[in-house]
Amino acid sequence: MHSNPTHSNGYHHQQQQQSGGDRRPAMTHRERVRRGPRGSSRLRESRDGHDGAAGLRVSGQKQQQRPPCTDFDMAYFHSYAHVGIHEEMIKDRVRTDTYRAAIMQHQSSIAGKVVVDVGCGTGILSIFCAQAGAKRVYAVDASEIAIQANEVVKANNLSDTVIVLHGRVEDVEIEEEVDVIISEWMGYMLLYESMLGSVIIARDRWLKPGGLILPSTATLYMAPVTHPDRYSDSIDFWRNVYGIDMSAIMPLAKQCAFEEPCVETIVGENILTWPHVVKHVDCYTVTISELESVTTRFNFKSMMRAPLHGFAFWFDVEFSGPAISPNNNQTTSLLTDTHPVDGSQRKKRTNPNEALVLSTAPEDPPTHWQQTLIYFYDPIEVEQDQLIEGSVTLSQSKENPRFMNIHLEYA
Ligand SMILES: C[S@@+](CC[C@H](N)C(=O)[O-])C[C@H]1O[C@@H](n2cnc3c(N)ncnc32)[C@H](O)[C@@H]1O
Repeated sequence: MHSNPTHSNGYHHQQQQQSGGDRRPAMTHRERVRRGPRGSSRLRESRDGHDGAAGLRVSGQKQQQRPPCTDFDMAYFHSYAHVGIHEEMIKDRVRTDTYRAAIMQHQSSIAGKVVVDVGCGTGILSIFCAQAGAKRVYAVDASEIAIQANEVVKANNLSDTVIVLHGRVEDVEIEEEVDVIISEWMGYMLLYESMLGSVIIARDRWLKPGGLILPSTATLYMAPVTHPDRYSDSIDFWRNVYGIDMSAIMPLAKQCAFEEPCVETIVGENILTWPHVVKHVDCYTVTISELESVTTRFNFKSMMRAPLHGFAFWFDVEFSGPAISPNNNQTTSLLTDTHPVDGSQRKKRTNPNEALVLSTAPEDPPTHWQQTLIYFYDPIEVEQDQLIEGSVTLSQSKENPRFMNIHLEYA
């Protein structure tokens, strides 16, 4: 959606194939923007290895140490000033309806309480909280979209309840503790954009002990995929073009189609086996340093004989309340016992307490996040019960933490 790849958020990936097909050098890539319609979220390559209104309150900085606001951050916030991205998110009914349902499900914890909306965008979640009876909602956004949010709040006669703060969560001042934090912070592959760090900062600055965070947990999954149609559409196509053998173009076609992670929608039938939990996050306890680099080893057993085309990543988030651990008084997510642990394989999501789940899994209704695919240049034939093992590391770029490096090894 936004055109300057050196000043937008993105992610890199590196793959190393240890066996089972062509060896090729590790690659470095960049995606240029966060979310956008499929066409506009087209991934763009970089092989250089670099990471690359009235009534509105503008809040300033206190004396405390805050992370600096870099040029990358400025470009990131600028990208959210475009109405198109907000239209797309709001039109994603799976996303927006689940948030609204979660707010209503937790109405008893919101009514009469103080809420902070981390990254309010157009103000929609803040207004849902006001509708749920919140006493006060601090709607914080560093993007110029905050100006529009303030107009929306005024037009809906909610200025007494919803206070729009135009600034970074890291910088704005809120002179009271809050009962609830709400935020829609998830990027592609969950961690892309690195916005969760700002939710953590808001939690540590303002949330009362025992306060509510929505969503409360998040889980990133991966699974091996087979996708022959995708491969033949992009690659086999060149074998016979109007009767002409253009297979000489196939190496370039593979490079152009698959050297970058692809954000696209697949279905359950593309998945070769149960997913692996790459990372489980409890929003009540997660730390910023924990998110800088995530490594997991995977061990899949293919449930069928099929060409393996790569790996898919997706996530879900859950909206459950906090629980106070009797041992150390620490707040954790209420459903911790039922949550997957990093590295585990999940057969079926279990949710005995019926917390609402916003899922971006291939078997669930599609969302604007779709799934993120890392394709191999050439498929690998796997037999039923064959092991596919390796590791993946997702790390924030040192230069621009909103970029993500993906290092994948498989055999
Ligand atoms: C994914 S959008 C969600 C918008 C809105 N909450 C919604 O659900 O439609 C994230 C918003 O958070 C804002 N944001 C991200 N990091 C922020 C930070 N550290 N401080 C303030 N706003 C931030 C962005 O500018 C963007 O408008």
